[in-house]
Amino acid sequence: MARLVIYGGNALHGEVTISGAKNSALPIIVAAALATEGESVLDNIPHDSDVGTICLILRSLGVKAWFDQEGKLHVNGQTLNKYQAPYDLVRKMRASFYCAGLLLARLGQAEVPLPGGCAIGSRPVDFHIRGFSQMGAEIIIEHGFMKAQCKELNGTNFYINRSSVGTTMNLMIAATLAKGTTVLESAAKEPEIVDLAIFLNGMGAKVRGAGTDVIRIDGVETLHGVEHTIIPDRIEAGTFMFASAITGGDITVKNVVIEHLRSPLIKIEESGCIVEKGTTEVRVSAPKRLQPIDLETSPYPGFPTDLQQPLVAAMCLAGGASVIRENIFDRFRYVDELRRMGADIKVERETAIIRGVSQLTGAPVEVTDLRAGAALVIAGLAAQGRTEIYGLDIIDRGYENFEEKFRRLGADIVREETKAATDIFGKIQGINV
Ligand code: EPZ
Repeated sequence: MARLVIYGGNALHGEVTISGAKNSALPIIVAAALATEGESVLDNIPHDSDVGTICLILRSLGVKAWFDQEGKLHVNGQTLNKYQAPYDLVRKMRASFYCAGLLLARLGQAEVPLPGGCAIGSRPVDFHIRGFSQMGAEIIIEHGFMKAQCKELNGTNFYINRSSVGTTMNLMIAATLAKGTTVLESAAKEPEIVDLAIFLNGMGAKVRGAGTDVIRIDGVETLHGVEHTIIPDRIEAGTFMFASAITGGDITVKNVVIEHLRSPLIKIEESGCIVEKGTTEVRVSAPKRLQPIDLETSPYPGFPTDLQQPLVAAMCLAGGASVIRENIFDRFRYVDELRRMGADIKVERETAIIRGVSQLTGAPVEVTDLRAGAALVIAGLAAQGRTEIYGLDIIDRGYENFEEKFRRLGADIVREETKAATDIFGKIQGINV
């Protein structure tokens, strides 16, 4: 078992380079296996454990996926020959449901475990399933699996009930090889969707409208491999921006697409930080004390739910009260951990009211979900004294070299291996009760 040990209080200074976007890499790695000619070579793939898991799932389906010496990921889908995705891997990550779109498109058959609820609440896949069904798949839900089959998928007009990143991507993947035209209405507009569309078009697909709420996909007969570079991770970039804000720091965040960060940057400026934008970098210098902010999370181009937690952490030290409404997921469980560090946060249904305190104090805390992990790390960096962060396997799912990047900015943060308390019965042997 590992933990992060942080001694907080250092203002962070310097430059940090952002990795490739996890939420772009995952669907693109799956989509790469649509090709029956050649292989795809993917650059800027982040080295996090979710990427490792999706590669293992693809391998279990017969796909070849491997990293070369330059860190580029090669995916060759020609050997895809199995349609049953293994539960022990799929259960680790909701994004593995993208395999359903791949398998239906390539093999006309898919058996994929349904993702369960998770630490950010109930996360159904009913929109995905309705979309596949409208494209002609016969679907049954049995023993926790979605079992789907079709002779071929047919293009359709599908209205997505609410903006859903996963549904939009899964149906895009499925529709590329379908017969006829698929129109996705009320599609999500996140930059990761545009990245997927660029990749698919590079493979020979015909996808138009990505980045707007109507996406049109004309099905093609075959797809081929292509080289592609994953976009920078806007959530990692935002996390370092809030790390600068909360620690009273001055950080230049490099390798970003400024346009993708529009809404977080507006809020960072509102909090009193000075923002200097370059072409592919942004400098965030913090004031002595942050101003409080009110906001609600919403689909892109609104403020992303994946930055709600780092933002709340920063507002814990603002000079006043902030009101933050979470509209996408049930994502406030981690505030109990921030309270243990001295934060004053009240949550009523989807809204958190954060009254800024003059200081946070270090404490042992447990990561509840990926972005909560990032929030606890930056809170620990600003807190007085020692913070211990447990549950690092969750942070490792989505951040590459996280503590190393903070260390280079002047943070006192180390990863320690601790002894796991596995032999609990051995320990109590001989103790009288
Ligand atoms: C993606 O999740 C991201 N995950 C999430 O990032 C991100 O928070 C989310 O989009 C919103 O931006 C990946 O890209 C791998 P949705 P996704 O479908 O696709 C409801 C992280 O930390 N809904 O856009 O699962 C759903 O419950 C993760 O990196 C249905 O009701 O999110 C939610 O309220 C966490 N039925 C809303 O739609 C469905 O079939 C939006 O979810 C699908 C979704």
